[in-house]
Amino acid sequence: MDGKEISEPPQLLHVGITYNLKKSDRSKEQHSQSGDLEPSDNEAEYDDITTILAIKEALEGRNCRVTLLEADEELPVKLLEDKPDIIFNIAEGIYGRGREAQVPALLNFYKIPYTGSDETTLCIALDKALTKRILSTYGIKTPKYRIITKDQNQLTGRFYFPAIVKPNAEGSSKGISDVAVVTNRRELEKLALKNISLYKQDMLVEEFISGREFTVGIFGNGSDIHVFSPMEICYVNQVNQYNIYSYNVKRNYKEFIRYECPANISKETEAEMTNAARKIYEALCCRDFARIDFLLSPQGKLYFIEINPLPGLAPGYSDFPMIAEFNGMDYNSLVWNVLKSALKRYGMKSYID
Ligand SMILES: Nc1ncnc2c1ncn2[C@@H]1O[C@H](COP(=O)(O)OP(=O)(O)O)[C@@H](O)[C@H]1O
Ligand SMILES: [Mg+2]
Repeated sequence: MDGKEISEPPQLLHVGITYNLKKSDRSKEQHSQSGDLEPSDNEAEYDDITTILAIKEALEGRNCRVTLLEADEELPVKLLEDKPDIIFNIAEGIYGRGREAQVPALLNFYKIPYTGSDETTLCIALDKALTKRILSTYGIKTPKYRIITKDQNQLTGRFYFPAIVKPNAEGSSKGISDVAVVTNRRELEKLALKNISLYKQDMLVEEFISGREFTVGIFGNGSDIHVFSPMEICYVNQVNQYNIYSYNVKRNYKEFIRYECPANISKETEAEMTNAARKIYEALCCRDFARIDFLLSPQGKLYFIEINPLPGLAPGYSDFPMIAEFNGMDYNSLVWNVLKSALKRYGMKSYID
């Protein structure tokens, strides 16, 4: 014996990917089968099959056997039959304010390990106002806001215009058009009431912060948390007088946006942003990965806008893989690092090489 340890090769891992697919590519409002009017961006949060296949390919390159489990009504049966060792979850859920929590809650019910944050974190983060309220108790600065409902559509107290109107529980800029900014109470009431009926939920109205926009990616857990350097969203072409990262701009980002990473900011501002991002990630008990949006006012004040504990992973489109790429981590490594974080968290170390 020469004293060298012979290490076991990592075990083959059976990974199921849970996801919801876009079903149609619409450009206009449409009536659903039940007759409801649905907005043109109704499926903004759902994924293209190309994203699922890219994740599959990334995992197959890492000693994984991958099965595709669309998160529809049949998911409970599929999970029981498929018996994956772990789930790579990117499912947005089907319906309701807590829809992103549906799949994680089911996986907890069956005690199946999965990547990403748990149901409670996903529920809270999908409710933008609730997240802002929680984070304000941690001293995180966020734009002043009100919630407008069908029955309570008047602004109360002191509130400054312009303001932005956003569905309270959406992502991917769903419900945020290029005309989401209002300049007085009359405009606000009109837009809020229209969107409450179209998006079937309360509207979050926030004071508009004109300034620079940044998004920060994070992955890992505990002492392994890694915060990527912030990416700035810079406008090369103006959409209107308010540059907002709307649904239209995201879809046509090549026409409007130049992404800058590392962002051209001072070391102090960068540290303030990455420290805030880590604090928010930990305060909300995020796991494995997340992306956090910030605005920086011309006076240098940093505002938290929202957190995405289930950030989009569309290669060549979503911000999170773009941030990783700028920071020297290619798509396949990013996918593997997310899975690896989850494997470590569950103590499944024999699958990690
Ligand atoms: N208070 C605000 N002031 C200025 N711009 C805002 C504000 N809130 C949101 N925006 C703009 O709207 C975009 C989408 O808003 P966000 O809350 O991040 O929604 P989503 O979850 O759909 O990404 C942001 O990326 C930003 O450009
Ligand atoms: Mg956002």
